[in-house]
Amino acid sequence: MDLRDWLREVDSRGKLKIVRGAHWDLEIGAITELMIKKKGSPALLFDEIVGHPKGYRVAANTVTHASEDPVRAAIALGIKKDPASTKELVYMIKEKMPQWESECKNFPPEWVSDGPVMEEIHRDDKIDMLKYPSPRWHEKDGGRFIGTGCAVITQDPQSEQLNIGVYRVQVHDRRKVGIYMAPIRHGLADMKSYHSRGQAAPVVISLGQHPLYAVIGGRPLPRSIGPTQEFGYIGAIQGRRMPVIRGEVTGLPIPADAELVIEGHWQPGAEMNEGPFGEFTGYYGGMVEPAPYIVVERVYQRKDPILLGSPPGKHPSYGTNVFSYAMWMRYLDAIGVVGVTMVSTHRAAASQMAAVSIKQRYAGHAREVGHIVAQLAGRGVGRYVIVVDDDIDVTDIEDVTFAMASRADPSQDIDIIRRAYTQRLDPLLPQGLPREQYFNSRAVIDACIPFERRANFPQVASISPELAEKIKAKWGKTLDFS
Ligand SMILES: Cc1cc2nc3c(=O)[nH]c(=O)nc-3n(C[C@H](O)[C@H](O)[C@H](O)COP(=O)(O)O)c2cc1C
Repeated sequence: MDLRDWLREVDSRGKLKIVRGAHWDLEIGAITELMIKKKGSPALLFDEIVGHPKGYRVAANTVTHASEDPVRAAIALGIKKDPASTKELVYMIKEKMPQWESECKNFPPEWVSDGPVMEEIHRDDKIDMLKYPSPRWHEKDGGRFIGTGCAVITQDPQSEQLNIGVYRVQVHDRRKVGIYMAPIRHGLADMKSYHSRGQAAPVVISLGQHPLYAVIGGRPLPRSIGPTQEFGYIGAIQGRRMPVIRGEVTGLPIPADAELVIEGHWQPGAEMNEGPFGEFTGYYGGMVEPAPYIVVERVYQRKDPILLGSPPGKHPSYGTNVFSYAMWMRYLDAIGVVGVTMVSTHRAAASQMAAVSIKQRYAGHAREVGHIVAQLAGRGVGRYVIVVDDDIDVTDIEDVTFAMASRADPSQDIDIIRRAYTQRLDPLLPQGLPREQYFNSRAVIDACIPFERRANFPQVASISPELAEKIKAKWGKTLDFS
């Protein structure tokens, strides 16, 4: 299954909108932002983009956002049954995770000699990165970003472990692209290992491919799953070894059924000003700063490539999605934390605020869960974690607010974690701060009914689910309760 298969399937379920004639300069970004804000909005496929050949397309609103539409994500994960809710999908994923993890090693990428991405190859001086419809997504972006839902493929020179990460890619000129990687990223570590040996760092960047690459590449996976990491995981989900072609100049794997892939090197010390870019925090964080640039030596593409866009920004943001929720639940499970029934973030804050529901089993349970999730969720910027009882639907921000307002006593139910990890995109970091001082703080809000008061805490004044069903059955034909 490649990106086109995914788009076809999404279309057949009535969840794709084709938009013709939009401009790469702000129109694609603005249309995407306005559409994503709508509940249940469709995936978008932009064609006939002003200034670019028909067929050079951009897909957006796929599956990397904290989405309200679990169906698009289920299609990407090969789950046949349409989930009725986000929670149902998270449970489906969580159930399959142990199998995917254990099968990773059986699905190393399969080296092949040809594939759709080889329809055209451009080499060295023939390369023109400006000919692709890279959007300028937001008004204050410092340029055109070709990579937002991309897959950056690197390898550790010693262990030969492969890695896929999603790191934004800005087009600087015909041959150069910039890349922003937070200091803890595996991709950065891999490339710096080459530099420490005095060598240029090889890299492959796929700019249009099945959305699973961005879903799986966009989360840190346990290193224990094997040397081919994300490739193995995606293979296990799809039930096939992912076909890859050896890059001409780096030897790295190029996804054979991708749309557009570039290959090149990051020379030691090669940096150019990059950004600003409207980010997942909802701000133009970090502004213009020196960042690595890659000299593009090869471009592999289909004749009519589709770029995969995943623009961040204020409401809704990405950084988390159903896969992250399932993964956090799985991690908690793996270290013996019991009673966690659902994890979610919200479109307004994504990875900066998470809510977790639990079935309280023991005194201190809520704090335990909250402190652990504060670190799991904090790979982005992570500021707030709210722990609630299981009667609260954590995918519903109003329900979470209800619990916080009525069950968390500010003087005793907010724990602060100080000097926690953050990165330069955090809008609260003062500009120009040295990297050694990149700290933030986290609040864990225990919005569960106090453990010792569960038996006599006031009852919630809302109709019971049983009564709701009865009323809907009787009155649903004349009154629209949806
Ligand atoms: C759509 C999307 C865009 C992302 N953009 C960036 C980015 O520009 N820079 C960055 O450092 N991380 C970015 N991330 C987060 C990383 O991809 C994520 O932390 C991933 O785990 C990195 O892989 P690694 O742990 O193998 O380095 C993005 C994630 C997603 C889902």
